[in-house]
Amino acid sequence: MKLLVLDSYEEMSRVAGEAVLATVKANPHAVLGLATGSTPIGLYEHLIEEKKKNGTDYTGVTCINLDEYAGLGEDHDQSYAYFMKKHLFLGLGIEKGQTYIENDLAENGEEECLRYDAVLEKYPRDIQILGIGSNGHIAFNEPGTPFDKTTHRVALTEGTIRDNSRFFRSVDEVPKYAYTMGPKSIMGSKKILILASGEGKAKAIQELVEGTEITPDFPAGILRNHPDCTVIVDKGAASLLQERCV
Ligand code: PGA
Repeated sequence: MKLLVLDSYEEMSRVAGEAVLATVKANPHAVLGLATGSTPIGLYEHLIEEKKKNGTDYTGVTCINLDEYAGLGEDHDQSYAYFMKKHLFLGLGIEKGQTYIENDLAENGEEECLRYDAVLEKYPRDIQILGIGSNGHIAFNEPGTPFDKTTHRVALTEGTIRDNSRFFRSVDEVPKYAYTMGPKSIMGSKKILILASGEGKAKAIQELVEGTEITPDFPAGILRNHPDCTVIVDKGAASLLQERCV
């Protein structure tokens, strides 16, 4: 695993954005694995600004998202489909037909997971963007998720529901279930960038970079087994690391 410690969130977002751009420039038909959350927003802004300046063409790329709440519908302003349109797809001119995300209104959850696994098989990702939870979760894979899981439907933990309730009018409106790529699906990407910003993530980054055991109790730990994974963090998220390299 490679570690990059940058001075600021802006710098981190620029470096991660340049890695995505390099992937698209090397292959205009690249498949991009994308994430929601506050962390990748700066990266997405970097791509949009770069496109404004240089006119980079995204009409050939395919975008595959990690996860989605169950039951909101894509037009709900808290759905991850909506987030992606707002923060990235509109700015890059990426059409709906180029994007994949779990169908949160699917009637049969098991069939939906199989459908998504087939999408992942059809479009092997060239690069996957990831955030990390302070407990080491990746996407909606909470501690305890078996590493061999592919796409699955999860019951959200009380902690996650509470954390996410800040985006809803009340905690009762937060969905109780979600769809997510599993650890095995995430590991299927050729390249992975995992981003973290701020001291709230420092403990998780310490465990990711310096932990010794790889167990489902810390889902992100599986990334240590990936042949091409880069951890990109700012100073705050790196603040508990023994050794830092820039
Ligand atoms: P964040 O979420 O980017 O909003 O911190 C990351 C995550 O929980 O995976």
